[in-house]
Amino acid sequence: MKFFVDTADVAEIADLNDSGLLDGVTTNPSLVAKTGRDFVTTVKEICKIVKGPVSAEVAATDHATMLAEGRKLAALATNVAVKVPLTLDGLKTCKALSDDGIMVNVTLCFSPAQAILAAKAGAAFVSPFVGRLDDVGHDGMALIADIVRIYTNYPDFQTEVLVASIRHPMHVVEAAKLGADVCTVPPAVLRSLVKHPLTDKGLDAFLTDWKKTGQSILGNDK
Ligand code: G3P
Repeated sequence: MKFFVDTADVAEIADLNDSGLLDGVTTNPSLVAKTGRDFVTTVKEICKIVKGPVSAEVAATDHATMLAEGRKLAALATNVAVKVPLTLDGLKTCKALSDDGIMVNVTLCFSPAQAILAAKAGAAFVSPFVGRLDDVGHDGMALIADIVRIYTNYPDFQTEVLVASIRHPMHVVEAAKLGADVCTVPPAVLRSLVKHPLTDKGLDAFLTDWKKTGQSILGNDK
């Protein structure tokens, strides 16, 4: 399973990238607004830090302008994945960009039918939003199960299932159990994945006992 981080905060991305666990980045207009920074500059900076796909979302809603914006964003770096919304104009734009060899992430997916259309439009990624479905009393993970099953039925669908709107570690675990290709995870959730109280407790005990031995592994080497 690949891990993308869901943020436009460059410092946060650089820090997490140092862990070696990052496979890509997703941004959206809300995350860009949160930084208060210039979008194009930010995308360029992120693309230099992370080697994998960096999603940058168009702001237009009509096909012609979306296509122009998408082409401009794709020209910023070879690892840009142009993000388009799951509308007819968005799908038309996805098809045109994908035919030109540009990675496209079709976002705001809330149904299996929408995911079928994204795959037919040649999307590199489809982004189903699990947390927002859970928020309104639907089962976000049931959508992931449906999409993974449908895509498995059609090996010619090359679209990767990118689980978005992740709110907690169990979303990541459930997505992995279902065989989703990618999780895009907010930085705080990504950091929380490593945490377990028994790990901390066990480490404390090991360190206390080690101290009693009076030994040093590096000795005078350091
Ligand atoms: O990037 C899209 C998605 O991950 C947004 O998440 O928490 O705003 O629903 P959220």
